Amino acid sequence: MRLFVDTANLAEIKEAASLGIVAGVTTNPSLLAKEGNGNIKETIQAICKLFPDGPVSMEVTAETAEGMVAEGQEFATWGENVYVKIPFCIEGIKATAKLTGLGIPTNVTLVFSAAQALLAANAGASFISTFVGRLDDIGHDGITCTKEIVDMLSMYPFDSEILAASIRNPLHVIQAANAGCDIATVPLKIIKQLYGHPLTEKGIEGFNTDWAKLQKA
Ligand code: E4P
Repeated sequence: MRLFVDTANLAEIKEAASLGIVAGVTTNPSLLAKEGNGNIKETIQAICKLFPDGPVSMEVTAETAEGMVAEGQEFATWGENVYVKIPFCIEGIKATAKLTGLGIPTNVTLVFSAAQALLAANAGASFISTFVGRLDDIGHDGITCTKEIVDMLSMYPFDSEILAASIRNPLHVIQAANAGCDIATVPLKIIKQLYGHPLTEKGIEGFNTDWAKLQKA
């Protein structure tokens, strides 16, 4: 399972790129607004430069399929690695099918059910973003829903990759990997939490102490 970083903060994205284990970036309007990024095009282009080989998702906000396609075509000129993120809805699925036909990669977002995932796959979505944390937030099991989507779509020759989004903790990442997701998009803070284990830290300390003793002997 590949790891993407889920943020629009350039400092975080730079740090994520330096880790050597992050393959792409997802943004959404809320993440961009949080950073107060005035020039969105410049921000996305800067992100694309930091991740020249990785998908960078930029979300459309138009209400009609025609508007979403026009936005998507514009975003696709910002960088070769831009994936047009499209909120799940009837117009969004129409736009996904159209952009797929034009050869523009898409990321259908705000998917909360197997039925929605099936429609996104039929529209040719490159990525289907299932929201784990937001389902948990309302008392549903986000990982069970995600696994149902992975199992269902794996029976058919769809090209869509399943992207676990709305990740709230390290356990969600492991559960998404065990569910068979292709990608998880994860806040940088949670990516860093994945490194930690007290026995590793204690082990390094012990090895370094013994090595230092050896140098004095
Ligand atoms: C990513 O593609 C999503 O927009 C993001 O993971 C949503 O996360 P949230 O539920 O924490 O806002």
